[in-house]
Amino acid sequence: MKKILILFAHPAFQKSLINKTLMEAVKDMDGITINNLYEKYPDFFMNIPVEQKLLTEHDIIIWHHPFYWYSAPAIIKEWMDLVLQHGFAYGTHGRALEGKWAMSCITTGGSKEVYRAEGKNRFTINQFLAPFKQSANLCRMKYLPPFVVHGSHTLKRDHVQKYADDYRSVIQMLRDNKINSEQFNSIEYINEIIKQDA
Ligand SMILES: Cc1cc2nc3c(=O)[nH]c(=O)nc-3n(C[C@H](O)[C@H](O)[C@H](O)COP(=O)(O)O)c2cc1C
Repeated sequence: MKKILILFAHPAFQKSLINKTLMEAVKDMDGITINNLYEKYPDFFMNIPVEQKLLTEHDIIIWHHPFYWYSAPAIIKEWMDLVLQHGFAYGTHGRALEGKWAMSCITTGGSKEVYRAEGKNRFTINQFLAPFKQSANLCRMKYLPPFVVHGSHTLKRDHVQKYADDYRSVIQMLRDNKINSEQFNSIEYINEIIKQDA
């Protein structure tokens, strides 16, 4: 069984619908650690050794957050800047994360249609996530296709719950090593694994 660390960031969690529902679906699972960054560090003063120890204790790292300004809420950047230190996460002797997997779980206001070259947002989600992909790569981690919930403002309650169920299934499959990593090459979002598996 793989150990999964969810680095969760939502600066207004009390107003959240989508991320709250996703988190409810995974929070009690065995082998999953939820690291709620805004709750833990409301003043942004991070305990770097604690965060690095958490990383070394897990096999899969998930950056889970709403999509803000085509990226992540600020605390995720702060976490990356401070925790992914040279000599720990990258560099000749920085091999603490080597061989681990990383993934993003994001929720977006925009629909899938607006995230393409001809759409209003001009780039795909995977293009916007390039800094995460390359950061993982620099740290010698494998970056998986993201779990994405689109159109958060227009989703009906039962659709939100379906996404949450799918998120739980994906986490379960990752934890139990049920995904053949070659499947990642042919999909845009890891959500598609559920359809393939059904
Ligand atoms: C500050 C801010 C920036 C946002 N930026 C984007 C964005 O760049 N692209 C997008 O599709 N949605 C954007 N949104 C919409 C959020 O992604 C959306 O409200 C969120 O995913 C809903 O999840 P929740 O119910 O858990 O809050 C933004 C929202 C806020 C408040």
